[in-house]
Amino acid sequence: MDGLFGLKTMAFEPVGFKGKKILITGATGLVARPLVRAYAENATVYAMARYGRAEDRHAIEGLGAIPIAVDLAHQESLAAVPEDIDYVINCAVSRSGNFDMDFRANADGVGFLMARCRKARAFLHISSTAVYEYRGHAPRKESDPLGDNHRAMFATYSISKIAGERVCMFAARQFGIPTTIARLCVPYGEHGGWPYFHLMMMRNGAPIEVHPERPNYYNLLHVEDCIEKIPRLLAAATPEVTLTNFAGSPRVSIEEWCGYMGELTGLQPHYVDNPSAFGSLCTDLTRMRELVGDTRVDWHGGIRGMIAALAPELLARGTSRSPA
Ligand SMILES: NC(=O)c1ccc[n+]([C@@H]2O[C@H](COP(=O)([O-])OP(=O)(O)OC[C@H]3O[C@@H](n4cnc5c(N)ncnc54)[C@H](OP(=O)(O)O)[C@@H]3O)[C@@H](O)[C@H]2O)c1
Repeated sequence: MDGLFGLKTMAFEPVGFKGKKILITGATGLVARPLVRAYAENATVYAMARYGRAEDRHAIEGLGAIPIAVDLAHQESLAAVPEDIDYVINCAVSRSGNFDMDFRANADGVGFLMARCRKARAFLHISSTAVYEYRGHAPRKESDPLGDNHRAMFATYSISKIAGERVCMFAARQFGIPTTIARLCVPYGEHGGWPYFHLMMMRNGAPIEVHPERPNYYNLLHVEDCIEKIPRLLAAATPEVTLTNFAGSPRVSIEEWCGYMGELTGLQPHYVDNPSAFGSLCTDLTRMRELVGDTRVDWHGGIRGMIAALAPELLARGTSRSPA
């Protein structure tokens, strides 16, 4: 943020969740479930998903949240959403591969959700750095060209996320809802994430496909940083829409995190070049730092904690005495 005389102002203070009504969509998913757990401690959390599996509903109830069954691809099901929600954190995503279904859920659904929650104090739409065009090792800025980045593996993903951002921008202005769009890059933590998939490939001796333009840089974002930054991202919301990358710093490559997991576990990654694999997607974090400050979790400790939580038996086989 530029303040008076071009001076940089302080990052936003977090909004207070205590006693508030928070709607978290995609509540059973990788990104949202730890948020539900964290925020339900002092707020009333409504946890939206379709809940096709009964065990998901029980798990969410066990976290102290109120499950609400909604299919964002079906407008009428939004009647289940209370109209007096204070803050919305929209983490739902449909990855069916069916264009009509995924556009309905990821784009149209954002508009219907915002119309329903138009009285909210702030709305956070979780997007993805997958909206950027491939540009090798260059860190991507919010103003950089968009593209169909993940097409080779997830045909509908990038373009439906781009469409979702535009619907979100329209609805924020149309209904005057203070809104932030945050483009996530590789969320992970003690519940999993992309590095955990890589670890499982290493354990099973499966090849890890990487883009030949190595190393493949990203910015890992630990769940603890997500939990800490989201109330600040909500504080930064405006009806003109605050758009920011949302990622951990510094950049780290697939090759580095797999190499480190190898040190910790004694397992070896086997890379196979594939020009269709996702290439580097590291991000310029200038805007994020101005808005919400730097992230705190060191990726070595984050990766080690992930393995300790999900596959502790593998740690005993490694040689590294790295930071916890
Ligand atoms: N995972 C990553 O590496 C990553 C990277 C960058 C950005 N992101 C972004 O982070 C957000 C969360 O992603 P995630 O990886 O946590 O997703 P996920 O694990 O696949 O979870 C998706 C969630 O959305 C719900 N959902 C799916 N279709 C729905 C529909 N039609 N209506 C209502 N709810 C629906 C699912 O529950 P039900 O199936 O029960 O409905 C589930 O709770 C997304 O915006 C994604 O684009 C993720």
